[in-house]
Amino acid sequence: MSIRYDRPWHTRPFAPSQGDTVCDADAIVEGEAREFVYGEGKTAFELIVVGTADGPRAYLNQCPHFKIKMNVRSDEILNTHGLIQCAWHYACFRPEDGHCVSGPVEGDVLHSVPIAICNGSIMIGEPEVSGLST
Ligand code: FES
Repeated sequence: MSIRYDRPWHTRPFAPSQGDTVCDADAIVEGEAREFVYGEGKTAFELIVVGTADGPRAYLNQCPHFKIKMNVRSDEILNTHGLIQCAWHYACFRPEDGHCVSGPVEGDVLHSVPIAICNGSIMIGEPEVSGLST
């Protein structure tokens, strides 16, 4: 199966569906991040959820530079400045909006995945129909 790196998140193999539970809402606080993997192999759907002052945000775990997973270890997603940092060439992204603030893809943005907190859980939100980053 070929992988199209530019396809919307919700059309990718193993993408979670709207309403799927990701984790407990209190499992991710400001300044922390976790990865979640759906499926297996090269087409596994990899999600990063990061806590911010305004609540959690979620992004595809795919660096815009080489379109690959950004972290090597599950506990190494944020750098010491609290930015999402790609382990390969050190692109840094703001947790609040996924905007790249330094590195080889400065100005680019991570693909966001909509989430919502419902009954104490972080859940997958509704995909936008028209965009890559929702
Ligand atoms: S692959 Fe992420 S910065 Fe190069």
